[in-house]
Amino acid sequence: MTTSVRDLQERGFGATLRRDAWWVAPALTALVLGSFAIYATWAAWTGTNYEWGPYLSPFYSPYIRTSWWPLSPAFLILIFPLGFRTTCYYYRKAYYRAFFLDPVACGVGEPRHGYKGETRFPFILQNVHRFFMYAAVVFIFILAYDVFLATRWPVNGMSGGVMAPGLRQFGVGVGTVVMALNVFLLSCYTFGCHSLRHLIGGGVDCYSCARAGKARFRLWRGVTVLNQQHMLWAWCSLFSVALTDVYIRLCAMGVIHDVRIF
Ligand code: FES
Repeated sequence: MTTSVRDLQERGFGATLRRDAWWVAPALTALVLGSFAIYATWAAWTGTNYEWGPYLSPFYSPYIRTSWWPLSPAFLILIFPLGFRTTCYYYRKAYYRAFFLDPVACGVGEPRHGYKGETRFPFILQNVHRFFMYAAVVFIFILAYDVFLATRWPVNGMSGGVMAPGLRQFGVGVGTVVMALNVFLLSCYTFGCHSLRHLIGGGVDCYSCARAGKARFRLWRGVTVLNQQHMLWAWCSLFSVALTDVYIRLCAMGVIHDVRIF
C-alpha cells in the first residue's frame, strides 16, 4: 500500500513514514539563522567597535557618517544585504522549512491544506530579489575596496587602533586575510545567484545568434558553476560575514591582537 501526500496531510502535521532524522536540517537551520539574526541586530545596534586600524566591519561598509539618521548607520546599510539574503531562492526554502514548517521536510505532513505559493502579500514581495541582487553586486565592489584599504597601513604607526595621519605603506595583517576571504565567499554566493544566472542566460534560445552571445555564454557557464553550489556558498558567506565582524570587533575591544603578516 502506498501513502500519498494527501494521506499525510490528512493525518496532520508531522505525520510521516520516514525513519531518518529529517528534523535535523530544519532544526539546525533555525538555530543558525536565528543566531545570526540576533547577532547581526545586536552588532548593528551597538554602533561601536566596528573598525580597527585599516579594517572596517562588513556590517558598517560603506563608511557612513550622517547627522540626520538617529540610529546606527548599520541599519541603513544592512537593508540591502539582508534583503538580498531573505529573498534568496535557497534561503526561502530553508527558512520556510525551519520557521514556518511549511513544509518542514519532504514526505512529512504539513500544518495547512491549501497552497497559494508566493502569489499574495507578503510573500509576493519576494519578487524584489532581482533588485536586491543589483545592490548586492555593488556591495561586492565596495567590500573589495575595503580589502584594498586594509592593506594601507600608516607609516607613523597607530595608537589604540586609530590610524595616525600621514603616509601609508603596503601591509597585510590577519584581518586583511579575513576580510579578503569574506569577499571571496560573498562573491561566490552573489555571482551564483539564480536571478543573475537568468539575467545573463535567460530568454536566449541560441547564444551564437544573440548579441554578444559568446561572452554571455561564457559568463552564464561561470555563474552556473557557482550556482550549482549555491547552498554551500550561502552558508559559508553567512559565517564569514559574521566572523569578519567578530574579528574586527574583538581587535577594537582589545580582546585579541591582530598579527601583521608582512
Ligand atoms: S537566488 Fe540566492 S542569492 Fe539569488
